[in-house]
Amino acid sequence: MKKYLFLLGLLIVFITACALWVVKGNNDTPLRILAQRNHLYIGAAVNGWYLTDPYYANTLTREFNIITPENAMKFGPLSPAQGEYNFTEADAIVNFAIENDMPVRGHVLVWTNQLPDWLLDRQWTRDELIEILRNHIFTVVGRYRGKIMAWDVVNETIADDGTLADNFWTNGIGPDYIEMAFRWAHEADPEALLFYNDFNAEGAGPKSDGVYGLVADLVQNGVPIHGVGFEMHTTIDWNVDPTIMAANMERLEALGLEVHITEMDVRIPSPVEPAALERQAEIYRTVMRACLEAANCTTFIMWGVSDAHSWIPWVYPGWGSATILDEEYQPKPAYWAIHTLLK
Ligand code: XIL
Repeated sequence: MKKYLFLLGLLIVFITACALWVVKGNNDTPLRILAQRNHLYIGAAVNGWYLTDPYYANTLTREFNIITPENAMKFGPLSPAQGEYNFTEADAIVNFAIENDMPVRGHVLVWTNQLPDWLLDRQWTRDELIEILRNHIFTVVGRYRGKIMAWDVVNETIADDGTLADNFWTNGIGPDYIEMAFRWAHEADPEALLFYNDFNAEGAGPKSDGVYGLVADLVQNGVPIHGVGFEMHTTIDWNVDPTIMAANMERLEALGLEVHITEMDVRIPSPVEPAALERQAEIYRTVMRACLEAANCTTFIMWGVSDAHSWIPWVYPGWGSATILDEEYQPKPAYWAIHTLLK
């Protein structure tokens, strides 16, 4: 009898352990699975040319459940000459996503950077620019109609002081280019969620108020906009108070808008010290927690699959190690920080 009770006890312990393992996940459970249980999309920015590298592709499909093109859908990379488009890389990314059942965040329709030379090389009238923008949006959004979950329609058009930035589109067309872009994108793909995307907009201050003011006006004017992207390219000195970030997401929610973390990376000065990796982990954890706790934060995307594919060393010399996987795709403390939190 005792023997049976003992065996029964063992069986119960075993079944409980298995159940806990299934429900909670263990260390081998990829981020994607843990994120799904939290009703969250977790993703990375990708470069289409790397998708044929099996390590890269396997890491992507194992860890992430959403992708965004890092450069392939920008105006310059897409359009070598006026009216001409080369969709090779963008198509590769969208096809990879469809094959692997991952949604795509389209990035980006209207930005002042990475514009084609043919567009920058001459003067245009306002009407010409409106026609160019309209054609661009209908061509790109139309091509991927039904295949893009969300588009960054307009990028980075609020200055640090909260006013409309001086840039190619505001100078060439004027502030209403923003509204036009959202309306055309919606017409070209009525199912796609449409986002305004910017950096340094997650905290408090003139920039975040400027972004809020812009999207509040759009909502009020009946412009089709569904969310705001917080880029979150930070350094290890980032220290926005999470309650402020929460309040910021809440006021966007009150407008009926979603929030996506769209481009997160946390750069570290070289040489990388262990304490910096811990600090980086803390920042990733804080932002992930803020997103999980906000009712309207549904997507968390990082800018690059691993440190081997990050833009940081190129654009910020002396800085690096900005993603959650190292150059050999090994998890860093930041990986485990969000892994543990999602668990
Ligand atoms: C960056 C890419 O990562 C680089 O490869 C490229 O040279 C420049 O653009 N904000 C954005 C992204 O919205 O599109 C930028 O991506 C990073 C800043």
